Amino acid sequence: MDKIDAFKQQLITGYTTIGESITLGAALFEGQAQKETQIKIPLRTLNRHGLIAGATGTGKTVTLQIIAENMCNAGIPVLLMDLKGDLSGIAKAGILNPKIEERHAAIGIDFKPNGVTTEFLTLSKEQGARLRATVSEFGPVLFSKILDLNDTQSGIVAILFKYADDKKLPLLDLKDFKQLLQYSTGDGKEEIKKEYGNITSTSTSTILRKIIELESQGAELFFGEKSFEVSDLVRTDANGKGIASVIRLSDIQDKPKLFSTFMLCLLAEVYASFPEAGDLEKPKLCIFIDEAHLIFNEASKALLDQIESIIKLIRSKGVGIYFITQNPYDVPDSVLSQLGLKVQHALRAFTEKDRKAIKKTAENYPISEFYKTDELLTSLGIGQALISALNEKGIPTPLAAVHLRAPASRIGTLTAQEITENISASKIAAKYNEVIDRESAYEILTGKIKDLEEQKETVEKPKPLKKDEKSVLEKVTENTMARQIGRTVMKEVARGLLGVLGLGGGSKKKKGWF
Ligand SMILES: Nc1ncnc2c1ncn2[C@@H]1O[C@H](COP(=O)(O)OP(=O)(O)OP(=O)(O)O)[C@@H](O)[C@H]1O
Ligand SMILES: [Mg+2]
Repeated sequence: MDKIDAFKQQLITGYTTIGESITLGAALFEGQAQKETQIKIPLRTLNRHGLIAGATGTGKTVTLQIIAENMCNAGIPVLLMDLKGDLSGIAKAGILNPKIEERHAAIGIDFKPNGVTTEFLTLSKEQGARLRATVSEFGPVLFSKILDLNDTQSGIVAILFKYADDKKLPLLDLKDFKQLLQYSTGDGKEEIKKEYGNITSTSTSTILRKIIELESQGAELFFGEKSFEVSDLVRTDANGKGIASVIRLSDIQDKPKLFSTFMLCLLAEVYASFPEAGDLEKPKLCIFIDEAHLIFNEASKALLDQIESIIKLIRSKGVGIYFITQNPYDVPDSVLSQLGLKVQHALRAFTEKDRKAIKKTAENYPISEFYKTDELLTSLGIGQALISALNEKGIPTPLAAVHLRAPASRIGTLTAQEITENISASKIAAKYNEVIDRESAYEILTGKIKDLEEQKETVEKPKPLKKDEKSVLEKVTENTMARQIGRTVMKEVARGLLGVLGLGGGSKKKKGWF
């Protein structure tokens, strides 16, 4: 048999699926796309996570878009982290041009321009449905991890959460928590000490410093109400197609701490709110993290450990996570070893270090009798990649160099007007952008401190107390209780969301964002 026939036979056998699948393109043999060898990834393996890597400009973001839109077409909702603002195009149909025409002719797939139903979300002041969570919902374990606190400081955070819970003080934003910190070493010191133990100002000042550090990255924007519900990310449109939720993050690219905090919270919440699903015909949700090095580069050891354990466990909940980054080694080894789909675009060999990285990358792909992997890695064109996936039985497929299809949606961005139109028609934007300004710990404690000061003055200049006057604490509690009506946060606060991961706290079910 000719070498080319053996090649075709290997790939056709390796990539034929029985169940539903998504098609990425056709395999390349000696630089030519072979129409018969279409590269199909079974839907049932898409919860096995993935990686898209390659040098700048080689087509990683476009590949993300191709995979994501094909998932939507197969009824799988996707969540896209758009760090450079170049993913909004998924909402609109693409435009056929001679290059795309040539590409699709070569791979033997029709080009049918089509956009995906899309929701735009934001963590900041960018247009879109606001993603927010209250401090209460984080729970003390996660909140301490985000601040990278030691055991003593985490203990204090736990006491303050408990105190706020017992006294019905809503901790909505960072301002609330800072006020509580201040109160715990000031006017409230004796009261808290009696019931909960001593809180030292050395620890509280460290905690305060770390909160200020987080705030300097703009975190105050995403602590507060109204809490986002994960169920709003798992929707299909009127035609049964998955909805793409694009989180617009271009303004937090330079704030890696905020980004990794947000990602961990998101994954923890998805993990906590999705039931165990076992092996499904297709995933319930796939999450794509473009520029993923941003999460891993500056994340603390504690955050990294949490991210790794969630990635390991979230698969069985029917959730797939896809990392997109230039160098595969931006992603920790423990995460890399869990990835089912690997798409490697071209790498550039400028330096000795680059050449070593190429060799190492090549060694991590299955050996192929048809390719010299390290040579191929530097010679792949834009929109071409080496692919290794899992077949329906969970066995790695043969290595394929693939000429990828073009996305059916637009490559690049939507105009400001198109984004405005999308958001004004969005139901979830209307739901989450409503301004809520509820009285919370900050106002209550400020009032309490004022009351205490007045009391002190009263002691200095004795004034007869009214017969039915209640203690300050009673007053605060009563007022707060009245304001609590209709609110869900306090009763649903999960003390230590990650308790479910055996990392502390309880595992009470809750339905907020984080
Ligand atoms: N599959 C494809 N079909 C058609 N055009 C493509 C394809 N892949 C890439 N391109 C072209 O290459 C350009 C660069 O691709 P892309 O933005 O995905 O690169 P990237 O690897 O994400 O780069 P960076 O690291 O800078 O983010 C695209 O704007 C598009 O014009
Ligand atoms: Mg990109």
